[in-house]
Amino acid sequence: MSPLNLVPPPEPLLRAAHVTLEYRGERGIVRATEDVSFDVYERDRFVLLGPSGCGKSTLLKAVGGFIAPQAGSLTLAGKAITRPGPDRIVVFQEFDQLPPWKTVRENVMFPMLAGGVRRKEADQRARHWLGKVGLARFADAYPHTLSGGMKARVAIARALAMQPAVLLMDEPFAALDALTRRTMQEELQVLWEEIGFTMLFVTHSIEEALVVGNRILLLSPHPGRVRAELNSHQFSLASAGSSEFQAATQRIHGLLFGELERAAGGAGHPTKAINE
Ligand SMILES: Nc1ncnc2c1ncn2[C@@H]1O[C@H](COP(=O)(O)OP(=O)(O)O)[C@@H](O)[C@H]1O
Ligand SMILES: [Mg+2]
Repeated sequence: MSPLNLVPPPEPLLRAAHVTLEYRGERGIVRATEDVSFDVYERDRFVLLGPSGCGKSTLLKAVGGFIAPQAGSLTLAGKAITRPGPDRIVVFQEFDQLPPWKTVRENVMFPMLAGGVRRKEADQRARHWLGKVGLARFADAYPHTLSGGMKARVAIARALAMQPAVLLMDEPFAALDALTRRTMQEELQVLWEEIGFTMLFVTHSIEEALVVGNRILLLSPHPGRVRAELNSHQFSLASAGSSEFQAATQRIHGLLFGELERAAGGAGHPTKAINE
């Protein structure tokens, strides 16, 4: 055996092992995901892709430390995730998560101040990250004066300013118009190339998964189980019209819905989004 074979594989930054997540309410138990396992490595752009209701947001909430698994485990750098922490920051779809009475800069500073960062440093970091997302000129503007895309940039700047180990994004561009959405996907890619953060990104759009991710975990409809895991680093917005991209889209659609369509007796048409 060559000595190279003895080098251990890198440890994942984030590991989900056999994670089952449930909600318990008056109407009984809702099982959101079942036996979901995946490993996210440093600098991954890891995408959870599946139809609405398959438990993507629930998985993200569990990684965020807001809910605990019924079975299985979630670890970050080898330590069990038991509560929310500044090493895992979530960007949501609703940009009205920005309090309207705070300026853009105050919005970006707020979680840093809450986490004990001194005002002067928080201010510097806010200005730095607003510059990175192209909003330096809007630091003193109020959120209601910004477009949807600009609010998305503020939310991203605010999250990255916290320097999380993993950036968690729950359909962050879903509420934007198609053109703005593309711009944001592109800007996210540019930021990632520059900074190299680690990201766990949730979407129900096959095209967005291929464009944003380097690895994609396909989840079955409710309750979410792992259907497959794919590499997608070769795709970007630039390749979105190519035949390879179309073939990957169709293959993913088949993996997600093949059984359902066979059961229904129809061939079905591959679509870009899973349930739009
Ligand atoms: N707070 C809740 N209480 C009970 N059931 C919930 C709650 N949130 C989500 N669910 C259910 O859990 C399942 C997964 O939801 P969710 O994680 O939001 O899916 P996705 O993000 O993939 O659309 C769905 O069946 C949903 O109805
Ligand atoms: Mg969701």
